[in-house]
Amino acid sequence: MDSIGVLDRDACRALDEGDRLAHLREAFELPDGIVYLDGNSLGPLSRTARARLERATTGEWGSGLISSWTEAGWMKRPQRVGDRLARLVGAEPGEVIVSDTTSLNLYKLLLAGLQARPGRSVVLTEEGTFPTDLYVSEALAPEVRRVTRDRLVESLDESVAVLLLTHVDYRTGRMHDMAALTEAAHAVGALTLWDLCHSVGAVPVDLRGCGADMAVGCTYKFLNGGPGSPAFLHVAARLQASLRSPVRGWFGHADPLSFSDTYEPAPGVARFLTGTTGILGLAALDGALDVWDGLDMAAVREKSVAMADLLIRLVDERCPGVEVASPRAAAERGSQVSLRHPDARNLIDAMARRGVIGDFRPPDLIRLGITPLHTRFVDLWDAIAVLADLLSPGRW
Ligand SMILES: Cc1ncc(COP(=O)(O)O)c(C=O)c1O
Repeated sequence: MDSIGVLDRDACRALDEGDRLAHLREAFELPDGIVYLDGNSLGPLSRTARARLERATTGEWGSGLISSWTEAGWMKRPQRVGDRLARLVGAEPGEVIVSDTTSLNLYKLLLAGLQARPGRSVVLTEEGTFPTDLYVSEALAPEVRRVTRDRLVESLDESVAVLLLTHVDYRTGRMHDMAALTEAAHAVGALTLWDLCHSVGAVPVDLRGCGADMAVGCTYKFLNGGPGSPAFLHVAARLQASLRSPVRGWFGHADPLSFSDTYEPAPGVARFLTGTTGILGLAALDGALDVWDGLDMAAVREKSVAMADLLIRLVDERCPGVEVASPRAAAERGSQVSLRHPDARNLIDAMARRGVIGDFRPPDLIRLGITPLHTRFVDLWDAIAVLADLLSPGRW
């Protein structure tokens, strides 16, 4: 992507004109008059998600009724949508299912991982990781070792059963080196469990290439699956037969419709299904994934990096007193820029009143999501113009 000399609104418009992904914005139903920088919390509605949802309600549910479990393919939809999603995390079809929440998927995989490493009692994770990850770890592991990120590798030893990490930090957007940490975990015989909530659809992820064991993530952020759309769960094919789900539900049975009294786990990743998945949420996600079909994640990443670099430059030039809390080096950053300011909460509210939607994370972070499918360079200019105006001398 071209770099810009003089930074003004016209220069940002020129970047939009040269943007190969610009047409994708038309895929979304964004309200007029706002700049939406919160697609990393809740992605917007796409036309294909709306159409797919309409088909699932009026056609499959409304007309097909109970027959849709088989005829419309509802029974296998968690696997089928998982197969579609697999490409976006560098997994193979058959390694991903879509069901439940990230929190529940984390619970299932963390306990399965602990049980697969008898004699080891430690879950190693990072200080300040997402609350669900900490709560679930503390509920399940005899010992949770929480360390700062610079101490992760030295804290790996043969007592560690699972290394549980959020790949891209939800507060700062700082990204771990998945390949290096997975290798370090494997060197002491530990399994890895990656939380990809802020990675999927945000950065290229190569679970296979990194040799990762297990992963979870949500679909309502960068994938635009809709509020509470079902989460995904990944288990590497080589491990599937050796892991057992601790939540034995009938959908994880080898043959759910046999209604057998005896539990027999499904042969592949489907053994981690629990009960009936919300078919409407799954349909919305299925439709939302149409936008990703054929899209090259490298091109999405290239635009994401150019946008984040631009945003950082705008803040540096126009917003004195605001600290960039995300890494400045693109290679260490996901797809968001977090800004630190002591009055972040009031600033984010004031920005929202002027049509710029980001979010606040305690205690002092303004979090701005970079979502290349629907955000324009000029939106970043406009957002920072509002922030700069709010912070202009004598105003704040
Ligand atoms: C990093 C991370 N992990 C886990 C979760 C929890 O996801 P869920 O609500 O699907 O359980 C979130 C939600 O935002 C998250 O950001």
